[in-house]
Amino acid sequence: RKLVGKVTTGSETFDALMGGGFETQAIVEVYGEFGSGKTQVAHQVAVNVQLPAEEGGLNGSVIIIDTENTFRPERIAQMVEGLPPSGEPEKPREPEEFLRNIHVARAYNSNHQILLAESALDLAEKMKKSGKPARLLIVDSLTAHFRAEYVGRGTLADRQQKLNKHLHTLMRFADLNNAVVLVTNQVMAKPDAFFGDPTKPVGGHIVGHTATFRIYLRKSKGEKRIARLIDSPNLPDGEAVFAVTSAGLMD
Ligand code: GTP
Ligand code: MG
Repeated sequence: RKLVGKVTTGSETFDALMGGGFETQAIVEVYGEFGSGKTQVAHQVAVNVQLPAEEGGLNGSVIIIDTENTFRPERIAQMVEGLPPSGEPEKPREPEEFLRNIHVARAYNSNHQILLAESALDLAEKMKKSGKPARLLIVDSLTAHFRAEYVGRGTLADRQQKLNKHLHTLMRFADLNNAVVLVTNQVMAKPDAFFGDPTKPVGGHIVGHTATFRIYLRKSKGEKRIARLIDSPNLPDGEAVFAVTSAGLMD
């Protein structure tokens, strides 16, 4: 069994909440209302995982399954420019190089999303031979397509079965590549007859049991965000306040 790696979030308090950063060989589920910052966290970790270990990264590359067309290369470039000074000031960081190490695939529906996750296993296998193996897989959003496509009581079991199988593929990716799998999940602002409790993420307990770390994100004043770690098996529950600034995530 390989040693677990950790990727910095860019915020010391958020890292401390997570026991030092987002862990590999695990699924990290970030859930919260629209605008809470889930996609921002995903962009930042896609930058940080590429950094050397001394700077909180894994010197790895990234695969993103983008289901809502919210990946923004310009935002990645901003975050690269916003990184803390590197240990090697003579080698300036190139946003283009960070972007080259991020492989984005747009998922058009839930079946396509499932296929892309399976293809990610093959792609990562090929990337193992390169100097930058895939150490991060992002699915943003994990549940949006499932939620849109499976409407009505009769389809609930079918949806959960598909989502469950998809999560097992993601867990395999995390294990086989010693990678972080970061998935996002929206919670509804108001109660929903089909999806139930508005404070619970879409997908219910199946997502909850598979994800190793579950983070509930919410807005605070201005740029401030609050991350709450929920029901972690080996870390204390708690909260961290961080900021989403133009330069990216920070304390
Ligand atoms: P949904 O996908 O709609 O559920 O939302 P989300 O949780 O993914 O929210 P997202 O991560 O897209 O956060 C949007 C918020 O991030 C904005 O309201 C801003 O507060 C912040 N944000 C996004 N882009 C920038 C940026 O370029 N600069 C700064 N300073 N903040 C940004
Ligand atoms: Mg988003």
